[in-house]
Amino acid sequence: MCGLIGIIGKGLDMRKELIEGLEKLEYRGYDSAGIGYVENGQPVTQKTVGQVARLKEKLSSPIKAEMAIAHTRWATNGGVSLENCHPHISEGKTWMIVHNGIIENADELRAELEEKGVHFYGQTDTEVVANLLERTKFVDPIDSIREVLKKIKGSYAIVAINKNYLDRLFIIKNKSPLYFSYDEGSVRVASDTSVFSGKNFISLNDGEFGEINLNNFKLFNKNGKINKKETKLEKTEINRKNNSNYYMIDEIHETIDVFKRINCEYKDLKIFNKFDKLGAFDEIKLIGCGTAYHSCLIGKKYLEEAAMKEINCYIASEFNAEPPKLNKNMLCIFVSQSGETADTLLAVEKARAAGAKTLAITNVPYSTISKKCKAYLPICAGREVGVASTKAYSAQVVIFYMLACHIKGVAPSLKGLISGFKFPDEEKIRELAKKLIKKRELFLIGRGEDYRNMLEAGLKIREISLVNAVALPAGELKHGTLALIDEDAIAIVLQTSQKGMEKVKNTINEISSRGGKVVFVSQFDPPCEVYDSLKLCQVPQKFMPLSSVVTFQLLAFYMTLEKNLNPDKPRNLAKSVTVE
Ligand code: G6P
Repeated sequence: MCGLIGIIGKGLDMRKELIEGLEKLEYRGYDSAGIGYVENGQPVTQKTVGQVARLKEKLSSPIKAEMAIAHTRWATNGGVSLENCHPHISEGKTWMIVHNGIIENADELRAELEEKGVHFYGQTDTEVVANLLERTKFVDPIDSIREVLKKIKGSYAIVAINKNYLDRLFIIKNKSPLYFSYDEGSVRVASDTSVFSGKNFISLNDGEFGEINLNNFKLFNKNGKINKKETKLEKTEINRKNNSNYYMIDEIHETIDVFKRINCEYKDLKIFNKFDKLGAFDEIKLIGCGTAYHSCLIGKKYLEEAAMKEINCYIASEFNAEPPKLNKNMLCIFVSQSGETADTLLAVEKARAAGAKTLAITNVPYSTISKKCKAYLPICAGREVGVASTKAYSAQVVIFYMLACHIKGVAPSLKGLISGFKFPDEEKIRELAKKLIKKRELFLIGRGEDYRNMLEAGLKIREISLVNAVALPAGELKHGTLALIDEDAIAIVLQTSQKGMEKVKNTINEISSRGGKVVFVSQFDPPCEVYDSLKLCQVPQKFMPLSSVVTFQLLAFYMTLEKNLNPDKPRNLAKSVTVE
């Protein structure tokens, strides 16, 4: 949720550094982008509404500064406008800041400041923080920060420049990720390690703040000065194999490599050491948001078979709204690509507070969720940039399978999946996509596991192609939604087991006899006449959800292209949602 960077360095091409950094962070939000630095003793900002590419066009001349901050925004507090674009400068122009997160008590703090005569030019909570810093009147900026931290509530990763200290950046972190890293002659602070090029980085914990300069850093928490250990930086270069214009398609095509990587990494059974140390449990709960939640719906079946227990899945925000009964004999498994999703993180905290055993399944080992859970399993998906999660979903499903094998005491192997997996005919998918985008809505129908997989298919189509694709259990059609079926309707029916073939014929007939068109998706031939069909690759039955989901990811991708939309940057969304 929003991306931020701060850089100090001599002899850098600051314009290039900031833009390249923002481009890497843009998956976190792209409503507006801006940079700030101090020139001739005064803070200067350059901003645009819209994507970083627009800011890049605007910044024509080189930036003559050895220190700067930058931000790409996903609007929360205050609309999408130039005056709400970061960085924000305090009224007296001493502080200039960029901020991720939400200051929950910003309205009352703003009112107090306004009473004291402060004038605000935008609506953001960030501007409130800048002015609070200015109003403290301490000589030492660290004292000002300490004072402001007593007042603000909520989540924040903040990087600030104080115009009287032009050799250092000030940093503050609570419930929103913040890291910094030294490289030859420079230091960078950012909300994501992807912008770093050094060997190591340092990760801030909640409640920590301080200052960094080219040679060293001073960090504090509420108890005083603290020391920090560096973490090795894993290179996260993206594999742009196909030289395509979009991350999403490359990421879908990486799926098979991800399976191979997991197969290899999970050969080392030490990966389960921490999980084994959690000890026995008598109940399992699976929790996630969006795509991660959908992976739980598929993973549940593997675990139920292995643990011989019924398992419940929860959307994290619902888990938080009405928490189930939790106790120390329960295992709560939290799934999150980023490891930073605020709703999931809050659910982790609730589970921990109740003494439940906690396991994180994430793509980022040093993420907050990975660190807060007692045990951690990596999904090995590699960096995912497209806002719509694809390879990470498939990886999460596979990790559930690996965990289920481990619980059963069987050596996990993905042999059948890796040898049988083939990408579907993309030309055929594209042809179908052209027909589907003419519709405002699509019905996605399946039974059991196929229905659960259709929930993810629906999410993919809705979020990027903006067609309202709604998943329905086949048996429920006649209990209401059939009323919507007429000559204009198209339903996609997924059937991945031979067992339900007779029933699926009934479903197709129910739709066709009302004039609706059916697209049949299966590894088998359609059991009766249909409008169109897509063939899935045959993998062992237990892995069929992976064969079908990739087909729907591609369908969503091509529908989006056919509508001339950008699949990597869907409207109003961001990849990492670090606000509740
Ligand atoms: C956002 C993303 C989704 C993702 C969800 C959960 O909504 O757009 O793609 O599934 O967050 O993210 P997480 O990082 O926890 O898996």
